[in-house]
This record gives sequence, structure tokens and C-alpha cells, in this order.
Amino acid sequence: MAGSFSYDESVASTYEQYTTLLGKVEEADETAAFLERLSRGGVALELGIGNGRVAVPLSERGVRVEGIDNSDSMLKLLAKRTDLIKAWKGDIAHFSSEQRYDLVYCVYSTFTLLSTREEQIACLRAAAEVLKDNGVVAIEVRVPPLDGLVGGQKTTTTFVDHENTFVNAVIHDPVKQNLVSTILWFSGTSVRRLPQRVRYVYHQELDTMAECVGLELAERWGDWARGAFTNESKGHVSVYRQTRQSSVTCL
Ligand SMILES: C[S@@+](CC[C@H](N)C(=O)[O-])C[C@H]1O[C@@H](n2cnc3c(N)ncnc32)[C@H](O)[C@@H]1O
Repeated sequence: MAGSFSYDESVASTYEQYTTLLGKVEEADETAAFLERLSRGGVALELGIGNGRVAVPLSERGVRVEGIDNSDSMLKLLAKRTDLIKAWKGDIAHFSSEQRYDLVYCVYSTFTLLSTREEQIACLRAAAEVLKDNGVVAIEVRVPPLDGLVGGQKTTTTFVDHENTFVNAVIHDPVKQNLVSTILWFSGTSVRRLPQRVRYVYHQELDTMAECVGLELAERWGDWARGAFTNESKGHVSVYRQTRQSSVTCL
């Protein structure tokens, strides 16, 4: 997220609780198991590493993990959890590293926080450039959640328990392929706002962008348990390997 949509202190201070309520902390071990296989005992780089929700369990499995994030607040959370992971402040659309990686990964739809096509292609290009021979790039993104829009907007309830309610108000900008949203988190007598802008991508566009930078699809799954990607899937994990020849010309 850029500008007003950054993961500032107010987002970071509630991230652990937020992701726990949504089951994302519980899911992280399965994610780490999936990524461990792709790491082949080598070195992995996480784009948008955040508080290490996935990086920490992956590191605990013996994989050497490094990470990039543009939020000081999220990097501080990671540093409090571990000193085994080297992480630095940077933009995942524009990064380079002298290290070469067996795996570069970007999970939890972080890729779509890059809100333009140009930034998304730049991110894939940078990822491709830091791969070792036979290295792979893994991207987890949602299937664009455009169902239920009326007049270009929708409001959905995404979580309720006896203390917390998450209501997500979304506006669609079809020209930019953006969804601009604010999660309203009601808890007790307080309301927190979690704003976000994403540029959604369908899987076929992701493949085309990857092809632009010399990557080709190696695997695609509907979830971390390697379930099939079907018409009912809410998201996918797509794994790309290097191609010898790019068949598509772009930026
Ligand atoms: C949805 S959170 C995911 C965090 C962590 N990967 C996880 O799975 O829990 C997105 C993370 O990406 C970071 N981020 C967003 N845009 C970024 C950018 N352009 N460059 C670097 N980090 C970015 C945010 O600061 C945040 O930590």
C-alpha cells in the first residue's frame, strides 16, 4: 500500500489480533509447509514480510528466510519475534539483492497492494532477477471478489463473534482495476478503520505478466493444502519458474 494506505502503527498494533481472528495465524503453518518444499533447503525471500506470520514458521522449519517490507511498524514487530530473519525496508516493486534465492514468495494478496499494472510487472521482474537457476516465484492472491457489487460498490460482513464485527465497505474502480475499501472493526464501544487499495488480477493476467519477465507457470493450486483450483476457488497459489524465452513483449 502506498501513501495513505500504508501499514502504519495503528494497523501494525492490531495486525496479530486481526489475522488471528480471521484464521490466518492458524493457517501459517500449512503455508510454511508448502513453501518449505519449494525452498529445497535453500534461501527464501518474502515480499511484504510483515510481522513474519509466515516467515517465522518457515524459518523454524530450517529454511533461511529474508524479507522486504516498506512499513517500519511491521518490521519492528518482526524484529521483536526473531533475529534469525534478515529483513530490510524497501518497496517490493523496486528492489534488488546481491543474494540469489531458491524461492521468492508473496502471500496473502500482498501482490495486489501494488495498485498499478506497471508496479506489479516491476515486482515480478525484480523477483525473477534475484532467482537462482531453478528457483521459483510463488504468489498467493484472491480471485477478484467482484461478486455482489451493486452500482460499483458493496458492503459485506466478513467476521462476527461476541466481541468483534468486521464490516468491509468496497468501491470498485473498473478503469484502474482497483478495489478501494475500508474495513470497519467494531469492538466494544470502539470502531477502528483499516483502509486499503488493491489492484485485482485474474490468474490469466498474472500468467501473462509473469511471461513478460521470463517466468512461466509451473503449478497452480486452490489452497495451501494443494487442493485443485476450480470455479469455486476464492484464491490461488501460483508458482512460476524461469523460461528460456519470453513469448510476450511488454514494458
Ligand atoms: C497483507 S500484509 C501481509 C504480511 C505478511 N506477509 C503476512 O502474510 O501476514 C502486507 C504487507 O506488505 C507490506 N507492503 C505493502 N505494500 C508494500 C510495498 N510496496 N513494498 C513493501 N512492502 C509492502 C505491508 O507493510 C504489510 O506488511
